Amino acid sequence: MSNCFIIAVDGPGGAGKGELTKRLATHYGFSLLDSGAIYRVLAYAARKAGLALFDEDSLEQQALVLNLRFATADDGVHVILNNEDITSAIRTEQVGADASKVAALPKVRAALLQRQRDFCNLAKGLVADGRDMGTVVFPQAQVKIFLDASCEVRAQRRVLQLQQAGKDADYETVLQEIKERDERDRNRPVAPLVASKDAIKIDSSNINIEEMVAVAIKYIDSILAKLKD
Ligand code: DC
Repeated sequence: MSNCFIIAVDGPGGAGKGELTKRLATHYGFSLLDSGAIYRVLAYAARKAGLALFDEDSLEQQALVLNLRFATADDGVHVILNNEDITSAIRTEQVGADASKVAALPKVRAALLQRQRDFCNLAKGLVADGRDMGTVVFPQAQVKIFLDASCEVRAQRRVLQLQQAGKDADYETVLQEIKERDERDRNRPVAPLVASKDAIKIDSSNINIEEMVAVAIKYIDSILAKLKD
């Protein structure tokens, strides 16, 4: 067993997990696992290879040989697939929806499990961002946080993000997409999006990033203090 201290952060897309986990990793000097990026890369690679997103056996094979690496640069973490930088290519709505589909397949999840657990091997601490970090991938995590926000607030944030990136965004369409993705992620038979029983819940609907980070750090520090006693 590794001695890695794990902070598992789960929740639906748009609740603020990306920002929270980035800040926590910097604050504690821990490594960061963006598990959603792995599912996005698989969906991207599958489309490129012409695979159907329901072809579980082929997707499992693709997942097992996925030549993926995360490279840290001055402007953040880059996602590299077969030496191609696909950091922004995997951030589209289409790839997000595709990722949610391939992630619903049990063999795909099993094929990607060890890859995620390996992030702990050399790290003194890990902040893991996903849907099943505290329930399936790292059930032993010392800290589990379930970060939620209403669909409406998450849709507003996404619209703003898209507009800031110079893209067209229709609130009702985005809201509908968020609801569909939630439905699929929460109701799949394997590793559904659900709060672990021992997770603290933070609702980010009506608080800003600074407040969200402060609540999380206060909680994590209390756990670290208990472990020192
Ligand atoms: O967090 P994200 O939007 O990058 O994730 C994309 C999709 O991947 C999400 O809709 C569901 C899936 N996913 C998952 O099933 N399990 C995870 N641990 C992370 C993401």
